[in-house]
Amino acid sequence: MKKKLIEAAKRAQQNAYAPYSRFPVGAAIRTPSGKIFTGANVENSAFPLTRCAEQIAVGAMVTAGERAIAEVVVYSAASPPVAPCGACRQVLAEFAGPETPILCVNDRGEERRYTLGELLPEAFSLSSATKT
Ligand code: THU
Repeated sequence: MKKKLIEAAKRAQQNAYAPYSRFPVGAAIRTPSGKIFTGANVENSAFPLTRCAEQIAVGAMVTAGERAIAEVVVYSAASPPVAPCGACRQVLAEFAGPETPILCVNDRGEERRYTLGELLPEAFSLSSATKT
């Protein structure tokens, strides 16, 4: 299962549109039902409009009608492998829990394993926020 998820993230990375940073990223999400959804970063010449691979993968998952994340793989060429950016951590937290594994890998086979709770302690949640 792990190998399949890494392969899916690698394939997604190959479709990244990253002409500005030249830093292609692939992300693969496994849901509790066993389905896999992928995303690649999609950059834009208006730089802030760039979308990260993880966010595209979350969009694919939700579009397909799924709303829970069991595991995430992030694939890049960086050594050590990069972990999701801060914004992506919060986006993942919408559908994942603090124990959800986030496996960061690169094309040399190096791996870093985290939980979402390690990467984003105290994720923002509107349901726990005080409303006026
Ligand atoms: N990027 C991702 O796709 N995911 C991350 O978690 C970090 C950064 C992308 C965004 C941009 O296209 C490129 O990597 C360089 O920042």
